[in-house]
Amino acid sequence: MEELKRAVAKEALKFIEDDMVVGLGTGSTTAYFIEYLGKLIMEEELEDVYGVPTSYQARLLALEYGVPVVNLDEVDAIDIAVDGADEVDPYLNLIKGRGAALTMEKIIEYRAGTFLVLVDESKLVERLGQKMPVPIEVIPAAWRAIAEELEVFNATAELRMASKKDGPVVTENGNFILDARFHRIDDPLDLEIELNNIPGVVENGIFADIADIVLVGTREGVKRMER
Ligand code: A5P
Repeated sequence: MEELKRAVAKEALKFIEDDMVVGLGTGSTTAYFIEYLGKLIMEEELEDVYGVPTSYQARLLALEYGVPVVNLDEVDAIDIAVDGADEVDPYLNLIKGRGAALTMEKIIEYRAGTFLVLVDESKLVERLGQKMPVPIEVIPAAWRAIAEELEVFNATAELRMASKKDGPVVTENGNFILDARFHRIDDPLDLEIELNNIPGVVENGIFADIADIVLVGTREGVKRMER
């Protein structure tokens, strides 16, 4: 599996040109991309490329591998964002947020000129929610009320725990994560909007209609899905 992740990360480098501002995603696949990108920058094969990290994980990797980092409010535009995903359906709708960085990921990827997604073939599903729950970032005081409210959506939600000893996962924005399993997701865009309408929900991990290209690492090579 690591080989497939490395292969898509390498392929993603073909999309990066001089003078680009690049959104840097979170997760193990994007970690390879940041490593390879840093190498090209250090070898001066790419010039004036800046990364906008979606998380501390991405920021630390960028610093480690020599990708110059800027904040979202310091750039006029993001040319391309590169990130992994937890599920991809045939229409390029995604579930993201295993790494609890979904809010900043969506903020950056929504604004990118091109949103490029890197996955291995195990992430492909016919329908979102088949394997993974939908992560929902919530204001801590509201977690239980929102978890109960999700029953109306035919979903069961669990508060994501770091461990019994360490307690709930706290996001970089100081919030909690609910992992919601839906009976069936027929319309991802509609559900994405409806979940964000619940007071106390900060953002949810359905990324409908925003991915432009998905690179899929398979045993037969890297395949490309496009809208
Ligand atoms: C982070 O919050 C997620 O959205 C990641 O993009 C996702 O978990 C992908 O991670 P891997 O590349 O490690 O599978």
